[in-house]
Amino acid sequence: TPAAAVIPAAGRGVRLGPGAPKALRALGGTPMLIHAVRAMAASRAVSLVVVVAPPDGAAEVKSLLDAHALPERTDFLVVPGGAERQDSVRLGLDALPPEYDIVLVHDAARPLVPVDTVDAVIEAVREGAPAVVPALPLADTVKEVEPAGAEGEPEPVVATLERARLRAVQTPQGFDRTTLVRAHETVTDNVTDDASMVEQLGLQVVVVPGHEEAFKVTRPLDLVLAEAVLARRRL
Ligand code: CTP
Ligand code: MG
Repeated sequence: TPAAAVIPAAGRGVRLGPGAPKALRALGGTPMLIHAVRAMAASRAVSLVVVVAPPDGAAEVKSLLDAHALPERTDFLVVPGGAERQDSVRLGLDALPPEYDIVLVHDAARPLVPVDTVDAVIEAVREGAPAVVPALPLADTVKEVEPAGAEGEPEPVVATLERARLRAVQTPQGFDRTTLVRAHETVTDNVTDDASMVEQLGLQVVVVPGHEEAFKVTRPLDLVLAEAVLARRRL
């Protein structure tokens, strides 16, 4: 069965600093969003990409997609996004035609995810997992603190987490469509990722290996790394 990918791309990119919405910022001369769309379309299993555009930018995103060729087997749709990432994902899901039973949700801000990671996520959903996330072990030790009252003030450590049991989660996250739609209808708290909504339904979420190049472009230094990864690929 074919899979569809929903790409939330409606964020401002406040942490990246002033400029165009993050998904429209250039990477190797091409908008980050186009890289993300191509990364999903690179999987033979993905036959539809739904881009969730900045609320006032749907027309611009539509013409960008018209101008950048995708594989013949891949269709795309553009819908305007919402205030929070969760709203944007739901608006993307609302636009999905009925024939797609497997849905990926992939951040436009992770433009360089390799196709093998996309395929591994889809494969795990096909094998029966209701929700699948790619993730990597952490490099840093992680401590829980009592957050400081004022900025720059020392923070008391509460605990040191067991690093071997921790994973840093990436996208694309893959879902049985019915499960993800139900999660978005049921879970109302603000959440960071889609899989956590499925966890709140009491269903099992599984992890498959992520990839270093699936990192999220969040701050200016991430753009430096993304440009370097692209340049290395073009060698
Ligand atoms: N996103 C979205 N709709 C929102 C907020 C975020 O579609 N209302 C998308 C972003 O475009 C991005 C993904 O969710 O592709 C991950 O979010 P994040 O990295 O936090 O991007 P921004 O919210 O744009 O960045 P920031 O938090 O720094 O403003
Ligand atoms: Mg954000």
